[in-house]
Order: sequence, then structure tokens, then C-alpha cells
Amino acid sequence: MYNRRKFIKVTAAGASLAAFSSSLFAKAVQPVAAAGFPIVISTWDFGIAANKEAWKTLEKGGRALDAVEAGVKIPEADLKNHSVGRAGYPDRDGHVTLDACIMDEFGNCGAVAAMEYIAHPISVARLVMEKTPHVMLAGEGATQFAVEHGFKKEKLLTPESEKAWKEWLKTAKYAPVINFENTQGMPGGKDNHDTIGMLAIDAKGNISGACTTSGMAWKLHGRVGDSPIIGAGLYVDNEVGGATSTGVGEEVIRNVGSFLVVELMRQGYTPENACKEAVNRIIKKKPDSIKDIQVGFLAINKKGEYGAYAIQKGFSFAVCNAEKQDLLVKGKSYNS
Ligand code: GLY
Repeated sequence: MYNRRKFIKVTAAGASLAAFSSSLFAKAVQPVAAAGFPIVISTWDFGIAANKEAWKTLEKGGRALDAVEAGVKIPEADLKNHSVGRAGYPDRDGHVTLDACIMDEFGNCGAVAAMEYIAHPISVARLVMEKTPHVMLAGEGATQFAVEHGFKKEKLLTPESEKAWKEWLKTAKYAPVINFENTQGMPGGKDNHDTIGMLAIDAKGNISGACTTSGMAWKLHGRVGDSPIIGAGLYVDNEVGGATSTGVGEEVIRNVGSFLVVELMRQGYTPENACKEAVNRIIKKKPDSIKDIQVGFLAINKKGEYGAYAIQKGFSFAVCNAEKQDLLVKGKSYNS
């Protein structure tokens, strides 16, 4: 019978994983108690469904990059998810503008920012990475690029999102709500951010990440948060690990949050402690953030050990590996 070590050895020797059926793979990879790979983790409870989709690629021995792209497309397409993708709440002027980025094991990366009319920004971000010499395309240029590559241009504002926006217009008061992600399916909840950030390690031990969002509801037209910014919303270093963030993007950008988390792991911090230190930096610079701002970081190291830390309680993340496909973990937080 295969054990995990033997399995990795076989992989390294170049044996074709495609030969394994999913059920055989499940037997081949022994349950991993606290760490290991393949593994995929992602922010919030909607990460469970996204991870399961990513797992379909990972369990077949596929590439982490393909897994994270496929995974985050689930919340991007979910009409009940008002913080990511096509049903995201619009900006102050009624435009649904989407941000996303992706990064692979070679340090290649691509991003789109403030892109309208295209339902899957993560796939456009991947094309920016693979088909252009650039890292980021923004606004009309991003939409034009997507259309040129065969993406359908469509109205993204759903009737439900439009209704919530019109309700907000009655007061036009911007009031971020902590952990808005946990209120999915409650149209008209006073709205805010947010994001799915996903990190995966494939059977070869390679790391990739993806991050996608519709950003803060009712934001100023043209506002871009942390999610499409490499180093802020997402960072991967295949020698060390990966990190991603959720919450009020401005605070993450100010501290180049995900890059910071990865660099702290390089120095020997555990994933959780690296996330905690990044949260502490935000709080130190802006002590008031502990009152009403949520930021959470999620990280994984090269061994597949993971951890998270947020400013406010209520942050959760999903974990999927050979042992369990639908684990939801309560993240630790400063305000516990
Ligand atoms: N973290 C998502 C945003 O601030 O747009």
C-alpha cells in the first residue's frame, strides 16, 4: 500500500498521476494530521465550495495554478455572493467593478483591476499573466483585453444587487460592516468588502494563489482595493509559502500585507504568527482599526502548515486535503 512518502517519491520520479483514478488517489495519499499536500485553503465559509472545486484538480495530480483558478470561479459565479464576481454589489454609481489577481510557483503573476462587464476576472488575470508582458490591466483596457480573448461582455448588476444599491442610495451612508462575508444571502445588509483568497499546494509541492473580489460595496467609482495587488492581497513564493488577505483593502495595501506575511514565514514565523504580526502592524499604525475595521490574513508554508489571524472575531477559513474536504476553521483574532 502506498504511504505518503512513497507517493511523493513516485511523483518526483515522474510517474503519471493521471493514471490514478480519484478513488485510488484517495487511498494512495494518507490522511495528513496537521500539514502536507496536496492542500487548498481559502477565506470564509464560501471557501468550502471553492476548495472542493479546486480539489478536483489537485486530487488528480493537477497544477496548483489550475486548481486555484477553478476554485475561485465558484464564488465568482454564485449569484448569492455579493462580495465576489458577477453578483457583487456595485460602486456608488451603480457599476459592478471587479478586481482579481493570480500568482504561480514561478513568481509569474497577473491581475485585473476595476474591470466591468466580465464575470470571471480571475481567468482574465491569468491571461494577463500568460499572454502579455504586463502584470495588471485596469478599467476599460481590462474589459477590452477580455473581450479580445473571447470573454462575453455582459451586464453584471443583478436585480438583487440593484435593489440593494437603490436602497443604499436613500441614505448614501457608507458604513463598513465587519465580516460582511458571513451575511451572504442577506440583500440590503449594510455592505462592505469582500474577497475570496485561495492558496493551494499541489502533489509536486508547488504553490499558487488566487484572489478575487467585487471590492467594497458602494465604493467610489474607480476605487481599487488590495485584492488585485500582488504583495497586498496575495503573494506566493514557492520557496517559502503563500499568503492572502480579506477585509478593508486600504489597510492591507498600506502594509503590503501578504508580502509581509510571506517574508515573516521566511524568517521562521509559523503561518499563524506571521498573520498575527501583519495584523499587529495595522493596529499599531492605526489603533482605531480595532474598533470597526476587519482585516484577516491567511497563510500556508511550504510544508503545507497553515494559519490565519484577523483583527475582529468572526473570520473563518476553509481547508481541503485528502483527509477532509469541507473543514471550516475559526480564525484567531485580536478582538477575540
Ligand atoms: N479586500 C477587498 C477590498 O478591500 O476590496
